[in-house]
Amino acid sequence: MAGTSQTAHWSSRWTFIMAAVGSAVGLGNIWKFPYEAGQGGGGAFVLIYLFFVFVIGTPVLVAELSLGRRGQKSPIGSMAKIAKEEGRSPLWSLIGWSGVLGAVIVLSFYSVIGGWTLSYMFDAFAGTFSGMDAAAAGAHFGGLLTNEYAVIGWHAAFMGLTMFIVARGVEGGLEKAVTYLMPALFALLIGLAIYSSIAGDLAATVDFLFKPDFSKLTFDVMLQALGQSFFSLSLALGSIMTYGAYMTRDVNIGKSAVIIASADTGVAIMAGMMIFPIVFAYGLVPGQGPGLIFATLPIAFGQMSGGAFIGGAFFFLLVVAAITSSISLLEPSVSYITEKTGANRRKVALMIGGFIFTMGILSGLSQGDNPVADISIFGRSILDAKDFLTNNIMMPIGGMFSAIFVGWFVSRKNMMEELAMEDGTFRIWYFLVRFICPVAIGAVFVSIIYNTVTG
Ligand code: TRP
Repeated sequence: MAGTSQTAHWSSRWTFIMAAVGSAVGLGNIWKFPYEAGQGGGGAFVLIYLFFVFVIGTPVLVAELSLGRRGQKSPIGSMAKIAKEEGRSPLWSLIGWSGVLGAVIVLSFYSVIGGWTLSYMFDAFAGTFSGMDAAAAGAHFGGLLTNEYAVIGWHAAFMGLTMFIVARGVEGGLEKAVTYLMPALFALLIGLAIYSSIAGDLAATVDFLFKPDFSKLTFDVMLQALGQSFFSLSLALGSIMTYGAYMTRDVNIGKSAVIIASADTGVAIMAGMMIFPIVFAYGLVPGQGPGLIFATLPIAFGQMSGGAFIGGAFFFLLVVAAITSSISLLEPSVSYITEKTGANRRKVALMIGGFIFTMGILSGLSQGDNPVADISIFGRSILDAKDFLTNNIMMPIGGMFSAIFVGWFVSRKNMMEELAMEDGTFRIWYFLVRFICPVAIGAVFVSIIYNTVTG
C-alpha cells in the first residue's frame, strides 16, 4: 500500500483484509473497550455496543470502503471527486477534512498510550511484575505517569516507529508482520482469557459483561458505545477510506466488512474476558478508567508461572497491534499532503509525524503530576478531551454524514456497481445506510441534547 495512492495496491485480497483488521484491532479493543465497558456498567454497554457494531458500524464500513475504492485518492480527494461526479456540492469533501483532522487528533493521544504499552513490554520482559499485588501494580502505573521524561520518551519511540513505517511505505515488512502477528495476538488473547477465567473470578465476569443492567443505560453511555464502535472499526477518520483506495476491484467489500467487524469484536470480547476476572478477583474497580489494563494485567503476569515471558510477549503483540492501527491514523494526512503538493512521501511523513508528536506531548503530560495535568477542558484532562471530541462528536457525525452521502447523494446504480453485492444483501445494506444509520445516530444526539436542555 505504499507509494502514491493512485497507483499502489494491496498485493492480495488477504493482505487487504489483514491490513484492515490490523487497523481495526488495536488499543481500542484491548485498552479502551474493557475500561469503557467497566465505566458503562458492563452488560448493557456490551449489548448496545454489539448492536452498534453490526447494525450501524458495519454498513458504514461498507460505505467508506466503497467511497475509498471508487475515489482512489486521499479521503479529501476522494470525497471531492465523487461529489463532483455525482453532481453534488463540493462541501461534501468536509467529511474528508474532518476525517483527516480527526485522525491527527486521535494519533496525538493514541501514541501516548502506545508509549505506555512499549514501556510495559520492557517491564514485563525484565520481570518487574513478578509477584506484584494490586497495590504494587497501581503504584507502578502511577510511577510511569508521573515520570514525565519516560512518558514523553516512550511516546517518541512509538511515534518514531509509526513514522518510520509510513515513511518507507508499507508493502513487504508490514504486510508480513500483520499476516503472522495478528493471528498470534489472537491466539495469545484466547489463552490469557482462559488463564484469567481459571485463576480469577469468572462468575462475576460473566454476570458483569453479559447480564445487562438496563438501568445503567443512559444516553451518554449509548453515545459512548456508538463512538467506541466507530473507534474500534477505525471509521469516520479516513483510515478505512484510505485503505479502500488501495483495494483492487476484485475484492468483495461486503464480505470483507463482515470479516473485519467480526474479528475486531472477537478481540474486544476476549480482552474483556482477560481483564475482568482479574479485576473482580482482586477487588479492583471496573470503572476506574484508562488505567484499567495497566493496573490489572501486571497482577496476572506477576502471579503466573512464566509470567515474565508471557507478559512480555503479550505487550509485544499489543504494540504490534497498536502500530498497525497508528499507521492507519497517520496515512490519511500523509496521503492528502503528498497528493496535494507532490512532495516526497518520506518528508511528509516525518513532518506530520513530528507535528503530531509535539501535540501529543501535552496529552502525555496531562496524565501526570504537573501544571499541564491541572488544565481542565470542560472538566476533562487534555487527553480525555481529545478522546471525547473525536469519539463522541467527530466520529458519530462523520459516520452519519458518510451514510447520508452514500444513501441519498450517490446514485443507487453507481453504488450497486461498486459493491457488486447480491440483490438481497444490497437491499438490506441500502436500507440500513439510508434510514437506520442516520436516524439511530441522530436519535442518540437529539436525546442527549434534549436531556441536557430539560435537565
Ligand atoms: N481502530 C483502532 C483501534 O481500535 C484505532 C484506529 C485506527 C482508529 N484508525 C482509526 C480509530 C480511525 C478511529 C478512526 O485501536
